[in-house]
Amino acid sequence: MSENVYTLTNVYKTYRNDGKEFEALKDVSLEVREGEIFGIIGMSGAGKSTLVRTLNRLEEVSSGKVEFYGRDLAELKQKELREVRHDISMIFQSFNLLNQRTVIENIEQPLRIAGVPRRERRDKAREMLKVVGLEAKENEYPTRLSGGQKQRVAIARALAADPKVLLCDEATSALDPKITGEILDLLKVINEERKLTIIIITHEMSVVEKICDRVAIIDEGNLAEVGDVKDVFSNPRSKAAKKLVFPSNPFDPSSPDGKLIRIVFDGLRASEPFIANLVEQTGLKVNILSANTRSVGGIGYGQMVLELPADPADQKAVVDFFKAGGLAVSEVNTYE
Ligand SMILES: Nc1ncnc2c1ncn2[C@@H]1O[C@H](COP(=O)(O)OP(=O)(O)OP(=O)(O)O)[C@@H](O)[C@H]1O
Ligand SMILES: [Mg+2]
Repeated sequence: MSENVYTLTNVYKTYRNDGKEFEALKDVSLEVREGEIFGIIGMSGAGKSTLVRTLNRLEEVSSGKVEFYGRDLAELKQKELREVRHDISMIFQSFNLLNQRTVIENIEQPLRIAGVPRRERRDKAREMLKVVGLEAKENEYPTRLSGGQKQRVAIARALAADPKVLLCDEATSALDPKITGEILDLLKVINEERKLTIIIITHEMSVVEKICDRVAIIDEGNLAEVGDVKDVFSNPRSKAAKKLVFPSNPFDPSSPDGKLIRIVFDGLRASEPFIANLVEQTGLKVNILSANTRSVGGIGYGQMVLELPADPADQKAVVDFFKAGGLAVSEVNTYE
């Protein structure tokens, strides 16, 4: 069992403004394990940023506990909090670079604040610049960099202090898909080579699918679901997870009380023409209402929602056929 970086226990956060109260987090309990890439996904306003801000106590929780390596953040004195924050780096959608400083000076900034001698911090900053592949831009100013390059600088700066965890709040949301992919690849390499725990906040499923090991789904301040990405995305149980995973406008069944099943198959079986085989071997047809295949951590898998024939015996024959082929079959009554 690996150690927990974070343990959240019954975390509530209530904002109070002008006599009005708003509960942004409701009873959130979860763990983040050392060395993993943990995704937090949810719709806009779900409470993702609030949650991530409780992880370095930028936000105080209203009740419940946030522990970082077993230490309750709420109980830390200012000096202790400063020390702990040294272990927690963060990157943002907006990069937050200092435009009057060069790239290398930006990366040195946290080291300067920590009182690291000039020579040492320059060496460290250069090393980090190399990690993110931007050696050529050492003396450039941020305004002359592309969005992807700016985020690389922000990552280098975040890594310079040798943090134990990197928090990323919508770090790729301002970038196009190709650059997003490159930044995610970089984060994966950093996670593997430096054994850095990474927490990624996003509203995009593709980001979670590409690099996260586990995922938490936040829905209106509640933790709707948490687990391995493959499990959550292949067999979503909560309404919020289903909403994310299923296409928003599937075909309607041909009859309102038509029986629907979902079949889940892994990358290997994705290449098998099992629908064609069904027809060929049983003579029965199914109606495909939705289908999608995805790649999660390099392993392709997919799922389909099918409407079965009307006759119960035929329905059983279809289900048996898929089960015999090793496919996971579950009943779906509605998309809700
Ligand atoms: N300082 C604040 N005072 C009052 N309400 C707030 C405050 N900050 C956030 N909220 C509210 O809390 C809820 C969660 O906000 P949060 O920023 O955590 O959402 P989010 O999931 O990060 O959304 P997005 O994807 O749009 O960034 C929202 O309804 C927001 O309006
Ligand atoms: Mg946010």
